[in-house]
Amino acid sequence: AEIMKGKFDHFMQKEIYEQPESVVNTMRGRINFDTNKITLGGLKAYLPIIRRGRRIVFCACGTSYHSCVATRAIFEELTEIPVSVELASDFLDRKTPIFRDDVCVFLSQSGETADTILAMRYCLERGALCVGVVNTVGSTISRETHCGVHINAGPEIGVASTKAYTSQYVALIMMALLMSEDRISLTDRRNDIIAGLHALPGNISTVLSQDVKLQDMARDTLKVSRSLLIMGRGYQNATCLEGALKIKEISYMHSEGILAGELKHGPLALIDENMPVIIIMTRDSLYPKVQSALAQVTARKGAPIIICGEDDPAVKNGIYKDNRGEYKAITVPSTVDCLQGILNIIPLQLLSYHLAILNGFDVDFPRNLAKSVTTE
Ligand code: AGP
Repeated sequence: AEIMKGKFDHFMQKEIYEQPESVVNTMRGRINFDTNKITLGGLKAYLPIIRRGRRIVFCACGTSYHSCVATRAIFEELTEIPVSVELASDFLDRKTPIFRDDVCVFLSQSGETADTILAMRYCLERGALCVGVVNTVGSTISRETHCGVHINAGPEIGVASTKAYTSQYVALIMMALLMSEDRISLTDRRNDIIAGLHALPGNISTVLSQDVKLQDMARDTLKVSRSLLIMGRGYQNATCLEGALKIKEISYMHSEGILAGELKHGPLALIDENMPVIIIMTRDSLYPKVQSALAQVTARKGAPIIICGEDDPAVKNGIYKDNRGEYKAITVPSTVDCLQGILNIIPLQLLSYHLAILNGFDVDFPRNLAKSVTTE
């Protein structure tokens, strides 16, 4: 195991740092960056049926579920097919109606998660087309689905999923691009996304180069906190949920991802000068609404940490400024709206890692958790 970790102290750290390469492995042979054509061999035979689907149902657990939340909007935008996103356990609890013309997509790193397998078999029985998006070749989900995409992120050992998330994200984006290939009106949008995918490895490396700053922030600002709120909206809702899961899972700190649009409907009551809050302030179409969330937090004396674009005019030397005050900022390169979550999650992965290390916890094998949950 020592050799496999190479220069890294933990598998999780190694896997976070592998992401510039693992996303390339996910795209290798599948995106032709000269012609902007997408090829997903594992879906080819079923593509006409997938394109004719009446709705798409994403189904998964944990981090894999978050990759579905992250890509739902771009899927709907590009395919114009309604997408629903389901937690496998709840999907089964509800005995959700499923029909022959549904396309059900099961996301799983391991391909062995019991709830996801049961949900898949439930959909197979009802005659739906079942697609697997899986990391582990030969796993149950990979074998039993009709067709699928291997994300090719390489083995993930750390219980906290990191590189599988970013690769699932990329795989789902590629699938949406493939499904929309015949829509001429979307050519510009698709080309922008493909250019963003091309730039992804370099951009991920840029985020990783801020690791020391994040370690300092974990030590100086967050280490002793009892709780951490992570807020954003739109594409960044998934980033908030996934960031909060990472924090809970390995640093045993309570953390909650909050959709900024829901702030006034309850969570705002949690905010005071002692509640740490991270706000994801990406400059996409929802930026004005996130600005208003920031104002609501600062009006209650909160001292937020901002995650924003390095080209954001409001940020200078790691400080984000608005007309009310100055806040610590974590900056990341800016990319196409639907890919920004891939870059934004990385500082949160690193923060969770450092918080766990600072508190002396075993990051690769957090208490009470197993890498794959093979019982219901
Ligand atoms: C992620 O950090 C977790 N360990 C967990 O939520 C995981 O994503 C979930 O159990 C699903 O696993 P799978 O992708 O192997 O199906």
